[in-house]
Amino acid sequence: MATRSFRHCSSSFVLLLLLLQLPSGSGELQSNYYAESCPNAEEIINQEVANLYDEHGNTAISWIRNLFHDCMVQSCDASLLLESKRGKGIVSEQSSSRSIGMRNFKYVTKIKEALEKECPTTVSCADIIALSARDGIVLLGGPRIEMRSGRRDGKESYASVVEEFIPNHNDSMTLVLSCFESAGIDVEGTVALLGAHSVGRVHCVNLYDRLYPTVDPTLDMDYAEYLKGRCPMPDPNPKKVRYARNDRETPMLLDNMYYKHLVAHKGLLLVDQQLASNPITAPFVQRMASDNSYFQDQFARALLTLSENSPLTGDDGEIRKDCRYINAD
Ligand code: HEM
Ligand SMILES: *[C@@H]1O[C@H](CO)[C@@H](O)[C@H](O)[C@H]1NC(C)=O
Repeated sequence: MATRSFRHCSSSFVLLLLLLQLPSGSGELQSNYYAESCPNAEEIINQEVANLYDEHGNTAISWIRNLFHDCMVQSCDASLLLESKRGKGIVSEQSSSRSIGMRNFKYVTKIKEALEKECPTTVSCADIIALSARDGIVLLGGPRIEMRSGRRDGKESYASVVEEFIPNHNDSMTLVLSCFESAGIDVEGTVALLGAHSVGRVHCVNLYDRLYPTVDPTLDMDYAEYLKGRCPMPDPNPKKVRYARNDRETPMLLDNMYYKHLVAHKGLLLVDQQLASNPITAPFVQRMASDNSYFQDQFARALLTLSENSPLTGDDGEIRKDCRYINAD
């Protein structure tokens, strides 16, 4: 037994130590790791991601957020995909308040089933998270990222640790930067990764603070009026699921429109807007707003780093048969 500690960004002093079995010779990630064990693995994932995108375009958006949530929380180990165990008192990462709005998990199961048919218990759920994000990014007009594979699946998932790694929508830029630094991502890379908020949506619970009782003065006034319409208060129909799109102009493109909006005081979340006002991050926002290929290069670089955050390799962990449950369950 060896002790493995993960750096995280919480301002508390709780030091998180996880006990994991370390293998004698821990392997490394490789490009095309499944070349011999499952030669069609990457093609199957690519095909499934494309089919799902045709039916439900927002699956591609989910694959990007999945990578962020899985890899930021300690390790890219598919802990995000494990379901809570009723009766055993285990509440998994998906139940964290930070996971609000996460969707399309059932389609990960579809991708996994296609892989199991061809190569049973061979391709990890952690690699499905990484490679589906890679392929989803291309479908959304983002960069092609050369990712390695060979990640193995973890056996634990706890909602309670998520908040130590994933910032809240209204956290300070200092805290946000320290979270990403813990995952080896620099300021420029952090600014680029937040550009994922160029696609997808935000539920009104994450916006009310900026609109009521008074409008956040850093918010463009017309945009604030629009958002109040999306998120009325009092809510005439509280049962309705209310949200606003991140980008009304190019909602299905992973592009630098996000930064153009930030410069125009139309950032949706408080953290988004703070990227443009904080003196450390603002210069990168300016440059990304005016140069889409610079944004894409930085996004690709930072996402690759994130996708290799402390993976389990070698004999660590396992290869799950069903991404929702550990094999022993
Ligand atoms: C400081 C860091 C971040 C914070 C606080 C944050 C927070 C949030 C919040 C509150 C939402 C809206 C959830 C909802 O109400 O439905 C969201 C959505 C999203 N986030 Fe982030 N996020 C961060 C960084 C990232 C990064 C680094 C990525 C990926 C590289 C990412 C990808 C996404 C995507 C794709 C969505 C839209 C999901 C959908 O529409 O289904 N986020 N994020
Ligand atoms: C941030 O938002 C949460 C709700 O999501 C709220 O409970 C908290 O008070 C807010 N924090 C600050 C500093 O405004």
